[in-house]
Amino acid sequence: MPLTRRDWLAGAAAAVLTTRKSSAWQTAARRVTVHPDLEVGVIQPALHGHFAEHLGSCVYGGLWVGRDSAIPNINGLRKQAVEDLRAVGIPVLRWPGGCFADDYHWRDGIGPAARRPKRVNLWWGKYVEDNSFGTHEFLELCRLIGAEPYLAGNVGSGTPAELRDWMEYCNLPGESTLAEERKANGAPEPFHVRYWGVGNENWGCGGFLTAEEYAALYRRFATYLGGFGTVKPYLIACGPSSNDLDWTRRFFASMTATRLTSHVMPHGYAMHFYSSGKALAAQHTVETMQEQLSSFARMEEAIRQQRALLDTYDPERKIGLLIDEWGVWDRMDPEDEKRYGRLWQPITMRGAVAAALGLNVFHRQADKLVMCNLAQIVNVLHALLLTREDRCVRTPAYHAFDLLKAHRGRTAVRVETPQDGPLGLSVSASRQDNELAVSCVNPRHDAALRVELVLAGAQAASAAARILHDPDFNSGNTFAQPERITPRAHPVRVQAGRVEIELPPLAVLTAMVRLS
Ligand code: AHR
Repeated sequence: MPLTRRDWLAGAAAAVLTTRKSSAWQTAARRVTVHPDLEVGVIQPALHGHFAEHLGSCVYGGLWVGRDSAIPNINGLRKQAVEDLRAVGIPVLRWPGGCFADDYHWRDGIGPAARRPKRVNLWWGKYVEDNSFGTHEFLELCRLIGAEPYLAGNVGSGTPAELRDWMEYCNLPGESTLAEERKANGAPEPFHVRYWGVGNENWGCGGFLTAEEYAALYRRFATYLGGFGTVKPYLIACGPSSNDLDWTRRFFASMTATRLTSHVMPHGYAMHFYSSGKALAAQHTVETMQEQLSSFARMEEAIRQQRALLDTYDPERKIGLLIDEWGVWDRMDPEDEKRYGRLWQPITMRGAVAAALGLNVFHRQADKLVMCNLAQIVNVLHALLLTREDRCVRTPAYHAFDLLKAHRGRTAVRVETPQDGPLGLSVSASRQDNELAVSCVNPRHDAALRVELVLAGAQAASAAARILHDPDFNSGNTFAQPERITPRAHPVRVQAGRVEIELPPLAVLTAMVRLS
């Protein structure tokens, strides 16, 4: 339904009031042209994927509270987290690491919990884990929240035999000893796991290998990972840190050196791109925030350049590009880390803006990407949920994902925005039938935008929008104030087939536009 003029005036009046109350920001007019008929590519739901590592309180204490816990749980999984994650939709979940994956031995996490070995978590504090959360518990979590599982295999300290056995254990329906063992452990049906990572950051914590050494290991592992049962595995190779073109060039040069390697080429190639912050998460200055938010323009350029280089080895684009880990990584507060676990940081309005800038980049580059996983889902880095004892708070990043989820599975279409630099208005648009989803992000703290959406060759009949906004970039949803930053309806105006939107500073908005 189009908003009436009265609604619009009420909205505009509210905006003026907010302006007066908050500060004296400027309002600038911006015209954006959306081309509903210029298709970029399908926005795979997996571009909105996530990552859970045995790190800090992501798994133990966060997702997993244990079957005997007083905290409400479903077979040991925190009930509130399951419900919140199911509600926002988690298309894919990568586990168990990260650096942890290259020191994880899957057999430690199966069978009766009391008999599972206790192991030192080498990378994230050398504390002892009891392995009560293992393969079955992870796959149960995925089932409950509707996520496609992605298992990250151990190349650094593992063997090809160990990884092929994990695949057989998970995926073979039939009669082998490993399949029987899975059945005896409570899963009569195979898990049908499709996504398999072959190592993680092997240029770093995954063995400090050269690209050529990793390529040789990748070939060896992949030779034995052809698949079991009906699932054709999708094997994912370790890609570069940020936009390291040298790693990509050398890895693929080594992989394509002989014709014989063509049948062990990876299906996916995963880069990692973090946006580091020079301040504590809730103590950013304008400068540190702007420096961090500017990194998303570099990420977009990195996607273009990595894909272009990949195209020289893979002109038919059979190999998919992933961003396996991304998100904001601020300066850590050692006291917070002691209290809540390693890499714990509060998520603020800045974190919501960062999440939405990232998703907008992925939508615009939908033809070049197959999966992107935010690091990490609970209590670590750019978390969707923060937990403490029996409480569970949805962060502003959670709400940003919720606002932008309308794009999942739709076809991204071309958008022209003014060239205002990395802190300018960010827009992505996608289409399904007669409806456009348009997401706008204003990363500026000091300027409101009056956005006019022009639809090339089309007319808007009606529009409705929801917004996430807080003028304070250091504010977040705390245990005392869990609902401070949540999406709400926002007035938009349809005028002569165009859509007009008032976007306050630090805002994430999605408008659903019906075409006439
Ligand atoms: O997400 C935290 C860590 O960052 C991961 O374990 C590693 O892959 C990356 O360096």
